[in-house]
Amino acid sequence: MKASSGFAPAKINLSLHVTGQRADGYHLLDSLVVFADVGDRLTFQPDSKLGIDVSGPFSQGVPDDSRNSVWQAAQAVGWSGRIAIEKNLPNGAGIGGGSADAAAFLRYFAQGDVAIDSEIALRLGADVPVCLSELPQRMRGIGENIAAVAGLPKLHMVLVNPRVALPTPAVFKALQVRENAPMETLPVEAGEEAVFNWLSEQRNDLETPAIAVQPVICSVLAALADARINRMSGSGATCFGLYATANEAAQAAARITHDFPEWWVIATTTVASRPS
Ligand code: C5P
Repeated sequence: MKASSGFAPAKINLSLHVTGQRADGYHLLDSLVVFADVGDRLTFQPDSKLGIDVSGPFSQGVPDDSRNSVWQAAQAVGWSGRIAIEKNLPNGAGIGGGSADAAAFLRYFAQGDVAIDSEIALRLGADVPVCLSELPQRMRGIGENIAAVAGLPKLHMVLVNPRVALPTPAVFKALQVRENAPMETLPVEAGEEAVFNWLSEQRNDLETPAIAVQPVICSVLAALADARINRMSGSGATCFGLYATANEAAQAAARITHDFPEWWVIATTTVASRPS
């Protein structure tokens, strides 16, 4: 059988509110999520045995066995074959990682008419359900309540990671306030300027605890201070800056790469909402 390819784009939380905590310890979130045009690349080749090959600039330390969320996804649906994963994105970085890869596998598996079991997706990771689509979405609950968001334009963005892995549980543990107000509705009808004003008023409730664990995030945000909006994504440590044009984003990326050659810096464009 022929090999198929898949793409696991970087997931960016433009805003992230922590609105409560469940009895099992998982946190309730209210988040606006978009996807970039950079990401991991996967290929799937059906075979009698399950196996994973990991390559790419961020392959170091990524397991190629049952600890890998893609392996767990394949096992959960009873698929076997060879999976090649090219890791182009930093891990433990707040931009999808293993969840995005597992979602790319589930998308491949569901080609044709097989519906993706949302419970399987959630069990693989709280971010897997939102990573099943590449369109802008509002994510609530612990990640299971997903709704497409209309009217969000494509955004010119710079992603910066200081190359420190930040485990999600450590950030949630450092969180002081667990019951914040939910997001207000995105004013998409009012036009692009109103969307930007709304975005600039949003926040990521995990930024303060993430900075407590990894203070270098302050320097990353400062490096993005010339952006229209600068903020951390997910549980960090990757931060994003939004720029008016692709050219401005490319210039900012070049400047930050020059000033901080050890950091991961990339200019990217996010996927817009589908026209309604
Ligand atoms: O499900 P996932 O593997 O992405 O979550 C990793 C950890 O992050 C969980 O074990 C939990 O400690 C924390 N988490 C949380 N609330 C969420 C998502 C993750 O507390 N909504």
